[in-house]
Amino acid sequence: MQRKGIILAGGSGTRLYPVTLGVSKQLLPLYDKPMIYYPLSVLMLAGIREIAIITTPEDQSQFIRTLGDGSQWGISLTYIEQPKPEGLAQAYLLAEDFLGGAASTMVLGDNIFFGHGLPELLKKAMLQPSGGTVFGYRVADPERYGVVDFDSDGSVRSIIEKPEVPASNFAVTGLYFLDDTAPQRAADLTPSARGELEITSLLESYLHDQTLEVTLMGRGFAWLDTGTHASLLDAGNFVRTLEQRQGLQTGSPDEIAYAQDWISAEQLAQRAAIFAKNDYGRYLEQLLKN
Ligand code: DAU
Repeated sequence: MQRKGIILAGGSGTRLYPVTLGVSKQLLPLYDKPMIYYPLSVLMLAGIREIAIITTPEDQSQFIRTLGDGSQWGISLTYIEQPKPEGLAQAYLLAEDFLGGAASTMVLGDNIFFGHGLPELLKKAMLQPSGGTVFGYRVADPERYGVVDFDSDGSVRSIIEKPEVPASNFAVTGLYFLDDTAPQRAADLTPSARGELEITSLLESYLHDQTLEVTLMGRGFAWLDTGTHASLLDAGNFVRTLEQRQGLQTGSPDEIAYAQDWISAEQLAQRAAIFAKNDYGRYLEQLLKN
């Protein structure tokens, strides 16, 4: 069975108030595209074509308006409501029917990845037949994340959510490749003190069975934060700097769909026409000429 994708894009975005009072965080612009384009691109780069997008009930219609059914990119998008933000691991319960026994790759709708060799890293994780793969990334402020605690031999002892005293500088990014047992494992979890089904508890269950691989993403990768007003602007500027310097898009589902041969030149031309008034549209037109 083909691995399916999940984008978790719910939550109340309170840290970005008042910006997110009327619009979901994951639909805010990251320079020239909605934030969710970037994690969606990651799943598409991994080769995943069946994707569920989990949102709050209030925001769902805006996501549908922004992304549609996915046919413009040769993929299929399904929308699932999360009534309350009761934890990242809850996504596996909400998506259980959608997954229908398939393995999954879940990405958080506000996680931005960029780096040379990313497609290869993703493809390797895609091929893992059972267990899970997550990615560790060195950050200056690990206490804000799930943190990896390594043994002296470099193996992973535990993963702890927002520890007061972090055991390492390696945060676990919001990209989780888990096998078909994830929904069943999530069903066995009990809510944490803050009332959430924690993703770190789900990962602990895999660790306990010695089936969790923690792959380190090196310093050549950028894993960007969009959690505060300042970091959101920084991430947007990062994308702008890259795109202006290289003349290449980052996080374009249109480009990836075309490169993967999931859409025809004619379909790409239709998309380019929608955006004809701006650089994004001109970029897609240029792809057709090359
Ligand atoms: O970004 C990576 C980190 O994401 C991991 O290192 C942590 O282990 C993981 O718990 C998570 O930490 P955050 O503090 O970023 O979690 P937050 O509650 O902010 O949720 C992350 C995103 O997921 C956010 O955009 C909102 C969305 N979300 C969150 C919850 C709890 C949902 O859609 N539903 C939820 O129930």
